[in-house]
Amino acid sequence: MRGRSLLTLSDLTQEELVALLELAARLKERRAQARRDGLLAYRTIALLFEKSSTRTRCALVTAAAEEGATAEYLGLHDIHLGSKESLPDTARVLGRMFDGIAFRGYRHDTVVQLARYAGIPVWNALTDDWHPTQALADLQTIREKFGTLRGLRITYCGDGRNNVVKSLILGAAKCGMHLIDCTPPELAPDPQWIDEINRCAQAAGGSIRVMHDPVAAVDGANILYTDVWASMGEERQFQERLQMLRPYQVTMALASATGNLENGRLIFLHCLPAFHNHDTDVTREIGPLEVTDEVFESTFSRVFDQAENRVHTIKALMVASLGNEEVV
Ligand code: CP
Ligand code: NVA
Repeated sequence: MRGRSLLTLSDLTQEELVALLELAARLKERRAQARRDGLLAYRTIALLFEKSSTRTRCALVTAAAEEGATAEYLGLHDIHLGSKESLPDTARVLGRMFDGIAFRGYRHDTVVQLARYAGIPVWNALTDDWHPTQALADLQTIREKFGTLRGLRITYCGDGRNNVVKSLILGAAKCGMHLIDCTPPELAPDPQWIDEINRCAQAAGGSIRVMHDPVAAVDGANILYTDVWASMGEERQFQERLQMLRPYQVTMALASATGNLENGRLIFLHCLPAFHNHDTDVTREIGPLEVTDEVFESTFSRVFDQAENRVHTIKALMVASLGNEEVV
């Protein structure tokens, strides 16, 4: 993977995806032993962010620092991009100075153009369409719990065509998992795309399906996954989504309907940030949205392992594309 970008999980073969997850697991072990091997020593990384971030930004900064690289945060108003300088010019300048670029923003085409012009590895740290580094951490968290990915059943409940679920779909398909995207018809992903991905999933021993009834969709699930009902940039759709997605809230009753709550074969995942209580400006009056506090704080919730795994998987990605050793 040396020198390559990651814009969506389609950029990785099944073997490369598994190799990255294995590298992330090794890096996690080394970090637990407080080992610092300088796998990214003297590398420089630009973090070009149009949208806000807690986990992805902090994972990039800490992963870089732990292996000897320097990360420079370039927020929306910090550089000339868009106001006084075009994207191709900014990309070429950054490409002459840095070793890698992480980009978070709105239009997916921006990260595509950045990769085209920069000439150095570019990692998609979230666009309106895709969130590939999130899916890497999701898969690592699932593997840690179950020891495998193939054959496991994931049900995602919520906005069925956002960046997080589409990336999870690509990852699950490559790894031979059975994924149900449970969402209202209005928020379902492109059926042609689902057919295509389902064929890839079947070739790997899995399946990808869209369903609309949450109780039926969670039957047999090992992983319940949800995300916010309106993503960054969709603030105007918020009220409409509240009406549309209320029946898709992940509750203890839904967890119970999986049939796997009692036997310990169930985990709850959420990419975070999550609206699970009254403690945010958005939920102070209206209360929990996509998941109840009971599920979020339950013993089967793995959301903070998942958040930590952002570091190990992002580190694996940077080491694989820029590292001082041929590790992947
Ligand atoms: N899950 C995730 O990408 O979180 P941030 O928006 O905080 O980076
Ligand atoms: N779908 C969410 C993910 C945040 C990490 C968003 O794009 O806002």
